[in-house]
Amino acid sequence: MYMKKIICVVGTRPEAIKMAPVIQRLLKESWADVKVLATAQHRQMLDQVLKLFKITPDRDLNVMAPNQTLVSLTAKLLTELDIVFKEERPDAVLAQGDTTTVMAVALCCFYNRIPFGHVEAGLRTGDIWNPYPEEMNRVVAGHLAKWHFAPTDGASQNLVRQGISPESIYMTGNTVIDALLSVSKKEGALDVPINDNKRLILVTSHRRENFGKPFEEICRALLHLVKNNQDVEILYPVHPNPNVREVAYKLLGDNSRIHLCEPLDYLPFVNAMKRAYLILSDSGGVQEEAPALAKPVLVLRRETERPEAVDYGVVKLVGTDFEDIVSEAQRLLDDPEYYSQMAKGVSPYGDGFASERITQVLKQALSGS
Ligand code: UD1
Ligand code: UDP
Repeated sequence: MYMKKIICVVGTRPEAIKMAPVIQRLLKESWADVKVLATAQHRQMLDQVLKLFKITPDRDLNVMAPNQTLVSLTAKLLTELDIVFKEERPDAVLAQGDTTTVMAVALCCFYNRIPFGHVEAGLRTGDIWNPYPEEMNRVVAGHLAKWHFAPTDGASQNLVRQGISPESIYMTGNTVIDALLSVSKKEGALDVPINDNKRLILVTSHRRENFGKPFEEICRALLHLVKNNQDVEILYPVHPNPNVREVAYKLLGDNSRIHLCEPLDYLPFVNAMKRAYLILSDSGGVQEEAPALAKPVLVLRRETERPEAVDYGVVKLVGTDFEDIVSEAQRLLDDPEYYSQMAKGVSPYGDGFASERITQVLKQALSGS
């Protein structure tokens, strides 16, 4: 039997985290000739994750430029991906999520008539501006995929509502839980100078729709929270996007109980989540991981494509208004009963076997067994 060539594409930090378990699992299959293609839409943050999971890309497009625009990034990706796909002629291509890399991969597969498998398919808010541009990226990827690997029942239903054939949708769980469980087993110190006697609020923020005033409001709320709670410290690994970084350091860089640092490697970040009392974040991945670690998350967004944890009452949407962030965080700091309701461990996004299910679907489809 001929081996089937599968190209697994990774562009940004979260794609690498969520594709790593799929790549590692597919590499065990004798029928699969697995190639890893890094677009390097992110450079340093992608490399951090690839190193942790011991993945060396076979091809690297190295497309990242400082403060890149969506258009220049997309144009570069399409041109470069086309060259690789024509040279490699894969039997299938896989990509995860809703970044510009994923949208460009799906489109380039379509133009080259290559079957595309979408990992983490079917997430939707229904609003193309929230999150921007991710909602439209995943709509495009969803219409072009041959295999849709949906993390939850709700995601599968979103796809059916958009006219996707149910036979092409596979409910697998989210591979982020595979990654989280494998990394949680490892030892590793949280190498940041936080005070063990204080309650830790962990913060991440990077969404484009929050740039400008919303992000400034978030920073003001963080300052207010440390000022009014002497027993609280904030740890904030700052995303390298200049629209985030410059403002964060300008507004928060001067407070002894707010620790700004470079993006943490995945293992120390998981340890930081475990150590945190409370998490404030606009990240997609963090909304999935924190409930599995029994940590409450206040989501700094108006909408989420991940409603399951909100329905369980362990994640709450607070938006980006100063008053709302402060009052919700303060309630969690002051009310132990309310806190414990939000700190119950649930894992609506997966059981750690998503990569196994994805592998079995591809095995059946590509090798016929
Ligand atoms: C991107 C994704 C977003 C995803 C996020 C994960 C798009 C449009 N956005 O947002 O969906 O949630 O990644 O973090 O696909 N930079 C570095 N080093 C890095 C990474 C980024 O310096 O390792 C800086 C560069 O100046 C780069 C800028 O950040 O131009 C923006 O990177 P980009 O990938 O375009 O957007 P993100 O905001 O990172
Ligand atoms: N993460 C990390 N280091 C950090 C911040 C986040 O490893 O300093 C991890 C986090 O655990 C999650 C992923 O990065 O798995 C989320 O990435 P990000 O927030 O950049 O993107 P999103 O999930 O919003 O697309």
